[in-house]
Amino acid sequence: MSPKERSAPIGVFDSGVGGLTVLGGLRAVLPGEDLIYFGDTARIPWGIKSPQVVTQFSREICRFLERKGVKAIVVACNTASAAALPVLEQELSLPILGVVRAGARHAAQVTRTRRIAVLGTEATIRSRAYHRAIEAIDPGLRILGRACPLFVPMVEEGIVDGPLAEGIVEHYLGDLRGEEVDTIVLGCTHYPLLADVIRKVLGGDLQVADAARTAAMELKDLLEEQDLLNPSLGPPSEQFFFSDRTPAFQRLARLILPGIPEDMERVDVESEDFRS
Ligand code: DGL
Repeated sequence: MSPKERSAPIGVFDSGVGGLTVLGGLRAVLPGEDLIYFGDTARIPWGIKSPQVVTQFSREICRFLERKGVKAIVVACNTASAAALPVLEQELSLPILGVVRAGARHAAQVTRTRRIAVLGTEATIRSRAYHRAIEAIDPGLRILGRACPLFVPMVEEGIVDGPLAEGIVEHYLGDLRGEEVDTIVLGCTHYPLLADVIRKVLGGDLQVADAARTAAMELKDLLEEQDLLNPSLGPPSEQFFFSDRTPAFQRLARLILPGIPEDMERVDVESEDFRS
């Protein structure tokens, strides 16, 4: 592998700013790597869209990242990992990995009661991608899927604790209390911000599967295997691209990744250049 390819950046994408939780995991596990993040804030939410549309958006973003010269791509979005990853793996010549297998692996490792709840968008739960990934690791594990469509707008409104947040968590997850679930997979980029309120509402000794960190560790192994780790000792660079910039998204970006630079670039996803 040439030194140029080793020092190329890693591309990370999501339907919005939530995937910055995964970028945080990559920073921690791969501190020497340059990162390019794309958040499709103009077209979020993806979690209520069809697999075909999510795949097409993902494909366009992967091409954009390829043109930026990335050496590997992380699909930080659970909905896209569930709907589009198999197609993207076939179409791209770069290493690409998603967060679903990582979340499934961590959950299967930590559960003691062998009962796991997977929380995600409607598209992710409907796809049963987490079910398949967990069953592939251990077919004896019992999996309960719960779509929680209000969780994304809640986080985007900054409602991550207090009575309103607790009520909504109770609405979606209250019935899990009788199910001996000891592990939950936060199968959506936004949900790590609700981990505390979910723990509070469900009580007990709940394990939370951390897809972001596990995905970063999987990527590290993959880069090592393919001799693609960045040998540079210089400080890593990070670039952020979004398809829309609004004060609300910028606020959430700062909440997830304090210190994120102000100079994020806007990319016009309607332009021919982006789509081609
Ligand atoms: N990023 C999406 C996910 O992880 C959640 C937001 C959306 O619906 O687009 O599933």
